[in-house]
Amino acid sequence: MKLCLLKNANVSGKTVFLRADLDVPLSQQKTNNRQQTKIIDDSRLLAWMPTLEYLLKNGAKVIIAGHLGRPKGVDKSLSLNPVAKWISNKLKIENLKLKKINLGEFDGWEVLPSLFLLENLRFYEGEEKNDEEFAKKLAGLADVYVNDAFAASHRKHASIVGVPKHLPHFAGFRLEKEIEVLSKVLKDPERPLVVLIGGAKLETKLPLVEKMHHFADYVLVGGKIAKETESLIKVQHEKLNSAKSMLFVGELNKNETDITDESTENFIQVINLAKTIIWNGPVGYVENKKEDSARASRKLAYAIAKSKEFSIVGGGDTLGFLRNIGLSEEFSFLSTGGGAMLEFLSDNKLPGIEILY
Ligand code: 3PG
Repeated sequence: MKLCLLKNANVSGKTVFLRADLDVPLSQQKTNNRQQTKIIDDSRLLAWMPTLEYLLKNGAKVIIAGHLGRPKGVDKSLSLNPVAKWISNKLKIENLKLKKINLGEFDGWEVLPSLFLLENLRFYEGEEKNDEEFAKKLAGLADVYVNDAFAASHRKHASIVGVPKHLPHFAGFRLEKEIEVLSKVLKDPERPLVVLIGGAKLETKLPLVEKMHHFADYVLVGGKIAKETESLIKVQHEKLNSAKSMLFVGELNKNETDITDESTENFIQVINLAKTIIWNGPVGYVENKKEDSARASRKLAYAIAKSKEFSIVGGGDTLGFLRNIGLSEEFSFLSTGGGAMLEFLSDNKLPGIEILY
């Protein structure tokens, strides 16, 4: 069976439900006494722009939908309003007047007469529960479904697996590219293969550290996840017994905001052995304003860039961090996926991709 690709779809005159990656890092800023939400890094949004432009150019009406953060119910601080503005700016719409609208039961914005954005789907219970009725209602808004949200394709949520059940469905250009590049690495990586994992979202990442242990030659773990040393020691123990790869857990500094210089140096030595490097998640608390806890992540980023070997980096925070320090161009491939990328490289089937066959 073949993946259904957007380039083979007839979208002219159709309404397309475009599931996009909208989960971008945000910061709250105060200007003129007003709290404003700013998008810190728009890499994930830029990734599906070619798909959106193609759809509009080919005469489709487009409804963009996705999630932002992990709200419990409606949470104004996680509204997609900044994303609606970002899209309008990107499409260079003059005299922008974003119109708030309702599409069926869903809140959203009209960006153009042929372009709409739905409010954060995680404001509705049905999204994460993959509720059948909820999925049907979303599907009822459109004629065609396109998934260009690789970063969310490991989630069995309504907009990822429920909606495509009811509509002709296709993979967008970005999703197609992610699958192409990551499949090559998964099939036949140049070794030694080093995987570096940091960041938050422990419950997603811990099982993946374990899986990476069976794929990589070295697994380096830093950041918040390194605190979970007990479970990691178990992984290490099992691994040493079956002697497939080595696991190194970075030691945290006193404030537990970063890994120590010594651990960083050890990590760099391992990175220097690599022919393929995969990185997800900063190893320190890089948003910290009080101290420089991006020190280790920065050093590791420079070491990977300098190595000139094949390198893949993924995940919203990591992409944002690299852009911030001006290094993103130095990596071979920037994946939009964090957890999704690690899942894919663990040879797990991603439900959002499976449904598109
Ligand atoms: C991500 O940031 O990895 C994706 O947007 C998925 O988010 P989630 O882990 O909250 O499902």
